Amino acid sequence: MKDEKLKYGEKEPAGEEERAKKRKQKKSKRKRHSSPSNNEDLVVGETDVSPRKKKKAKKSRDVADKDQESNVEESLEGSLVDGEIVLIDRKSGKVYSGLERGENGGRKEIGKASESGSIDLYKSEKGTVKNTEENAEIEKPEFPFETDADDHCESPLQAYKDIVPFLKDFNERKASTGELCIYDPYFCNGAVIENFNSLGFSKVYNRKEDCYKVWGTSSYPSHDLLVTNPPYSGDHIEKLIDHVTSKSFGNRPFLLLMPQWVHKKDYYISKTKGIRPFFVVPRKRYIYLPPPSFRKSKKSDVHKKSSPFVSMWFVWGGTTQQNERWLSAISKRITDCDIARSKSALRDLRRKGNMKK
Ligand SMILES: C[S@@+](CC[C@H](N)C(=O)[O-])C[C@H]1O[C@@H](n2cnc3c(N)ncnc32)[C@H](O)[C@@H]1O
Repeated sequence: MKDEKLKYGEKEPAGEEERAKKRKQKKSKRKRHSSPSNNEDLVVGETDVSPRKKKKAKKSRDVADKDQESNVEESLEGSLVDGEIVLIDRKSGKVYSGLERGENGGRKEIGKASESGSIDLYKSEKGTVKNTEENAEIEKPEFPFETDADDHCESPLQAYKDIVPFLKDFNERKASTGELCIYDPYFCNGAVIENFNSLGFSKVYNRKEDCYKVWGTSSYPSHDLLVTNPPYSGDHIEKLIDHVTSKSFGNRPFLLLMPQWVHKKDYYISKTKGIRPFFVVPRKRYIYLPPPSFRKSKKSDVHKKSSPFVSMWFVWGGTTQQNERWLSAISKRITDCDIARSKSALRDLRRKGNMKK
C-alpha cells in the first residue's frame, strides 16, 4: 500500500488540495449559520440557541416574572396604621403606602414590619406621621357612626356602568313586578343614588345611618339586591361578608366592589364556601373620588383622586341558577371588564397581564 501521509513541508497533491479547500469552505459556512442572529458573542459554557427557542424562553421568563410580581402584590396585606392605609409585605417586612405611589409608579415604601407583627411607619421630616398632619386639615362632616377619613371615597359612575347588564337582567326576571330596589348600606355623600339614577335605576336606598344598627332589626330596608363599596378600614369588609352570606340575607344577589386581596382572606374563603361568587375585573383601574367638601386643599394632590387598592366586583347571583346565567350569558354584554369564574381564572388573567396593579 502507498503511504499517503505527507511529509512536513511537502505540498498536498492536486486532488487532495481541492478536497481540503472544500472542507474549509463548508466549515466556515457552518460557522456563519450557527452564529447568534443578534450578533451577540457566545460566552464560554453558553450553548447556541435558535431564535425560536430564545423567544420561548423569554416568554416563560416573562410569565414567571409576572407571577412573581403578582404574588408579591397579592400577598400584600391591607391595614390601617396611625390613620394611614398601608400594605404590608410580611415576607420582606416592607410596608407600603396604600394611597401613594412612588415617582416611578411603583409601590412607595413608608415603613417596616417587625417579626413580632408591629408596624413602624417612617416619620416625615417634621417628625410627625404624614397622614396625621394631613388629617388635621380634613373637614369632618357629621356621621351617626364612627368614620375614618380614608374611607370617604365614592365609587365612580363607570363602576356602576360595568354591572348594569346584571341589574337589568335581574329586574326583567324577578318575581315581583315593581321597580328594582337596590340597597347600598354604606353612606358617604349620596353619589350612589345620583349615579344609579343616571343609569335608569331610581329606587336606591343609601342613607346616612349606621347600617349595623339596622341590620337584623325591623328597620332593615326592603330591597331586591345589595350593591356596595364598603369602607376598607377596620373589620367592615368582614362584617359585610358575614351579612351577605347570612341566612337572614336569603337568596338575594350581591355585588360588592372591594380590593382584590379580599378573595384571599380566610373569612372570605370560609364564608363563601357554599356559594361561588365570580369576579368582574375592570380593565382600567377604578379611581375613587372623595366628595369635594370632605377635604380641604392639600399640599399634595394624592388624596384628590385615589385608588389605594386594585378593586374588582365580587358578584353572586343569589342562587346557583341565576349566578350561572349571569356568568355564562349576561357577562358577555360587559365590554370593559374581564370575567373570572374562580381564583384560578383570576390567576390566568393576571398572567395575561389583564389585571392592573
Ligand atoms: C368607601 S365609601 C363608599 C360609599 C358608597 N357606598 C359608594 O360606593 O360610593 C364607604 C363609606 O361608608 C361609611 N361608613 C362607615 N361606617 C359605616 C356604617 N356603620 N354605616 C354606614 N356607612 C358607614 C364611611 O364613612 C365611608 O364614607
